[in-house]
Amino acid sequence: MATVEDTTGARPAAEVLARARDIAGPAVRAAVETLPPAPRAIAEYHFGWRDQDGNPAGGGGGKLFRPALALLAADAVGGTWEAAVPAAVAVELVHNFSLLHDDVMDGDTTRRHRPTAWSVFGVGGAILAGDSLLALAFDVLAASGHPAADDTVRGLTATVQRLIDGQSRDMAFERRGDVVLTECRAMAEAKTGALLGSACELGAVFGGGGAEQRADLRRFGELLGLAFQIADDLLGIWGDPAVTGKPVHSDLRNRKKSLPVVAALSGGTPHAAELAELLAADRPLDGAELVRAAELVDLAGGRAWSERETAALLETALARLRSAAPDRRAAAELALLARLATRRDH
Ligand code: IPE
Ligand code: IPE
Ligand code: MG
Ligand code: MG
Repeated sequence: MATVEDTTGARPAAEVLARARDIAGPAVRAAVETLPPAPRAIAEYHFGWRDQDGNPAGGGGGKLFRPALALLAADAVGGTWEAAVPAAVAVELVHNFSLLHDDVMDGDTTRRHRPTAWSVFGVGGAILAGDSLLALAFDVLAASGHPAADDTVRGLTATVQRLIDGQSRDMAFERRGDVVLTECRAMAEAKTGALLGSACELGAVFGGGGAEQRADLRRFGELLGLAFQIADDLLGIWGDPAVTGKPVHSDLRNRKKSLPVVAALSGGTPHAAELAELLAADRPLDGAELVRAAELVDLAGGRAWSERETAALLETALARLRSAAPDRRAAAELALLARLATRRDH
């Protein structure tokens, strides 16, 4: 029986991402060009198209992973990539709205190997650029001309509210020492899973998929998003900034209760107790303490738990992809993309 892991005819994930970038990238850029001058300039810096003086620049944009999911989801239900471009653009705009605001909230000064927008243009400018991208996302869906455009707008609105709820809890957890795995998982599913779910679902809508296929693909994206967030959390503790383009130890410095940290804290071991004490300290942690905190997450089992959980989530996600019974080649490409995105070395 053919499965989503039957990769006959499937293109490698890197090639799929490159093609998605070729199709969605110019459409995102054309949409951003319609913004008012001030938020447009900041957004164009954030996307890596211009430097901080407004001169053309290359590179520094994101992976366009969410557009790739949307385009492939359309393909998977028998549609074309071209038909799903509004979905691809809308989810990438929402994603970048969330990153512009997230870097302010997390106080991070590096993203995609460059200074974050707020650290160059100020907090106010970065917030407004994010707001502008968010409004643009809904406009792109509303203007798509698709018969279900209203439903797509409402679906994406619900996702943005979940993302905001997840981000609110992510911040609230910084001040708590008693966060448990179930609430932490719900937080991560909301802040990241919801949008990956929408990417797949909206792609399926624009591809002409049926209700069950849309629901299965949405769940695939949500579970993949959760696995993706855990992989990102591990990179935030042990990743190399030269590779990730993001700071390391920032989450620990902020006392984020990410899933690897909460898994470690839940272990009940002496290492867990030492970690809890460090994270509860009422003063900034110095470099040596951050290194020790990272070590303790590992010693208390947080890294091993996260690697097991990521693998398990990926398999559950792929089962939902299989039950969408979609186009075999597109499904295999979605599976390859899912595996690439949850590897810890990207
Ligand atoms: C980063 O997402 C934020 C998370 C949800 C973990 P990506 O790693 O997809 O960001 P870019 O767009 O490729 O930079
Ligand atoms: C990811 O936030 C989720 C959103 C931005 C909505 P994180 O804070 O975990 O992501 P990075 O590590 O800064 O990209
Ligand atoms: Mg962040
Ligand atoms: Mg954050």
